Amino acid sequence: MGFAYVNGAYSADHVDLTTIADAVGTPTYVYSASQLVQQAKRFQAAVAGLDALVCFAIKSNSNLAVIATLAATGLGADVVSAGEIARAQAAGVPADRIVFAGVGKTADEMAAALEAGIYQFNVESEVELAVLSEIAAARGAVAPVCVRVNPDVDAGTLSKITTGRKGNKFGVDIDLVPALFAQARRLPGIDLVGVSMHLGSLLQDLAPYRAAFQRMADLVRGLRAAGHTITRLDLGGGLGVPYRDEVLPTPEDYAQIVRETVADLGCRLVFEPGRYLTADAGVLLARVVYVKDGSDRRFLILDAAMNDLIRPALYNAWHTVRPVKQPAPDHLEQPVDIVGPICESTDRFAEGRMMPPVAAGDLVVFETAGAYGRVMASSYNSRPEPAEVLVRGRDFRTVKPRQSIQALFADETIPDWTG
Ligand code: LLP
Repeated sequence: MGFAYVNGAYSADHVDLTTIADAVGTPTYVYSASQLVQQAKRFQAAVAGLDALVCFAIKSNSNLAVIATLAATGLGADVVSAGEIARAQAAGVPADRIVFAGVGKTADEMAAALEAGIYQFNVESEVELAVLSEIAAARGAVAPVCVRVNPDVDAGTLSKITTGRKGNKFGVDIDLVPALFAQARRLPGIDLVGVSMHLGSLLQDLAPYRAAFQRMADLVRGLRAAGHTITRLDLGGGLGVPYRDEVLPTPEDYAQIVRETVADLGCRLVFEPGRYLTADAGVLLARVVYVKDGSDRRFLILDAAMNDLIRPALYNAWHTVRPVKQPAPDHLEQPVDIVGPICESTDRFAEGRMMPPVAAGDLVVFETAGAYGRVMASSYNSRPEPAEVLVRGRDFRTVKPRQSIQALFADETIPDWTG
């Protein structure tokens, strides 16, 4: 199940994407429930036997139906804002499976998280810890805290999504963590339960994980020797998925590294996978508006644009594009530039991409778009944000309608001094 050509048509589970385009229009994100569940089960099976809480990083795809599908398999949620706490709860994630990360939590967000009774705060600085202490103590609450550590390990991923090096804004430098624990152990309203880390996203290799996990294990031993009770270790997310034909480490390989480096500490482990769970469970469905022949190249102009899927424009990321109608086995490929209608040159999904013949009116899909796709969409150029559809077996539902043109500006006001 998941996404594949079935009887000549690109399908999600048992639903031909042409049917979805006819019913919902384009551009539309389409998710496969079976693929979501399969990814979740595989990750959970890989860490089975470890004392682990797997928290879905909902920033990768925060549609309520997606969160609820994953939560039903037993996953918790990794959240980074009051909005994400509210989403997680609205989708049915129990508060005691929610971990709250982020370098800039505001006092209001901390209060909301304490009110909800979340499992853990991952605190990223001494100043943040002081504010949390004040807010929690004032409410007569005690916040369970992991200190986010910057392990200073190069994750070898895109510079824009690496986080675990010195000089990044994230976490507390590993050398400074023992002093922070010593100073913070008696802060009111704070229960220092452990340490957390997150190396970056889209990791292609396990070596940085091994190096960072070893550093974390040494840190935990050192903190314990200094008299601190460390019961939790949050290892973050970041496991990559192939976008083309890369061969990447599997969750089983990853779990093996975990077993070798930190399992003997006896800590409760927290994992925060995002992309691994959602990337392959979604595609962006779009229609070709025009095929335009320039003097030296051919353009496929789609009804999807960088406001719908920004990863190619922002990170130069690759998404495989396929026609919904399966190309003939002996088809010839031609290089094309795949672009959207937005008025700037960055609005290009691919340059010189080899594609089978595609005509105006045809449907295409961007694969591996379930993670960091819809969540990063905007209405730039006053383009309504795309719809979202969840498929299960032969059934599909619109789980978020396309934004209406009216909704684009329904809440805007013109002051009476204007004109
Ligand atoms: N935990 C923390 C603290 C994070 O910051 C992130 C992602 C995750 C977990 C989940 O990482 P994942 O397993 O999904 O790699 N917009 C970028 C990705 C940004 C990732 C930000 N943090 C993209 O489109 O590739």
